[in-house]
Amino acid sequence: MAEHLMNTYKPLPVTFDHGEGVYLFDDKGERYLDALCGIAVCGLGHAHPAVSNAICEQSKRLLHTSNLYQISQQDRLADALCKVAGMDRVFFGNSGAEANEAALKLARLSGHQKGIDSPQVIVTEGSFHGRTLATLTATGNRKIQAGFEPLMPGFLRAPYNDLDAIRTIASNSPNVVAIFAEPITGEGGIRIPDDNYLVELRALCDEHGWLLMLDEIQTGMGRTGRWFAHQHADIQPDVMTLAKALGNGVPIGACLARGSAAEVFKPGNHGSTFGGNPLSTSAALAVLNSIQDDDLVNRAEQLGSRILDGFKAKLGDTEGVTSIRGRGLMLGIELDRPCGELMQTALGRNLLINVTADTVVRLLPPLILTDEQADRIVIDVSQLILDFLGSNS
Ligand SMILES: Cc1ncc(COP(=O)(O)O)c(C=O)c1O
Repeated sequence: MAEHLMNTYKPLPVTFDHGEGVYLFDDKGERYLDALCGIAVCGLGHAHPAVSNAICEQSKRLLHTSNLYQISQQDRLADALCKVAGMDRVFFGNSGAEANEAALKLARLSGHQKGIDSPQVIVTEGSFHGRTLATLTATGNRKIQAGFEPLMPGFLRAPYNDLDAIRTIASNSPNVVAIFAEPITGEGGIRIPDDNYLVELRALCDEHGWLLMLDEIQTGMGRTGRWFAHQHADIQPDVMTLAKALGNGVPIGACLARGSAAEVFKPGNHGSTFGGNPLSTSAALAVLNSIQDDDLVNRAEQLGSRILDGFKAKLGDTEGVTSIRGRGLMLGIELDRPCGELMQTALGRNLLINVTADTVVRLLPPLILTDEQADRIVIDVSQLILDFLGSNS
């Protein structure tokens, strides 16, 4: 099978045919509980009526015109996003990596506008920012970078959640223009930094005139129980990137900026053929309205506490489970050993989960779960882990 596809993925042996809410159905009609939702993409679950309708209606009118012309859906989405995010302007692309490319270009350009010819961006270990050359360089994971050298210049790396390392960089590096980080690492293993981390990063950026740029591609759009994860720390970034759940499966990415950062790009500095086209922006508007109308941000917080408490009750004293953590519906259960095989074992039990950073079972279920479905995830995932630890001890 798939002999003409480039050999970039190793898909599990299942083909999904359709979905409905939190469930996926394979081509034999088997039903699966989806606690991953396409890696934090389908926050509203599968085949959400508001999103399906928006796509259908828009596709009958107009799919694409290019950014040579005004696009009213793009304007409306930018207005709505800026309102919930407290930002001023948005650039739309088609993916997370592209949103991050826009942020990194914005940072460099802001440096040049201040007379810094070789601007540098501080990035963190254990981060994931994408697979393009700039974003894989920004990513703090050698496995993602290996074989693609030479990496791009202009990056300085600090351990995640280490403020002293950033202070040391600050005193040695006059060309820094920005810090770029995830508020909670996703691919890096659901690492939640100390409560003061983002607050102090904000203060350091203010002190040194740097931009605080947050990658909320995985954490954004309600997932952590706030519209955006940085809102837990009550701070405001200068630049924020979004993708994943923004389109609920329709490819779209966004780079939002505020204050002087929002004025850096001028016509001709950046662009995209497809970015912000009528189809993707109509879908994202429907997503944003549905999250708002159904109060899903608060719901994510409630569901997250319910699931986290459930796991702590079932697995808290289990030998082999080293940490149970999460914010809203971004949850990780860390084991004392590699457990990548659990994805396939779970599939055999009609359950979709993920394992990241080798030892962390990652759950990113949709925000539309019922309490019963949330409890089912706790029961099924706990049993999966208990069985695994029992047979691997
Ligand atoms: C935090 C973060 N940034 C960026 C990306 C890259 O997004 P994409 O795969 O849409 O390019 C991801 C994808 O997993 C991500 O989790």
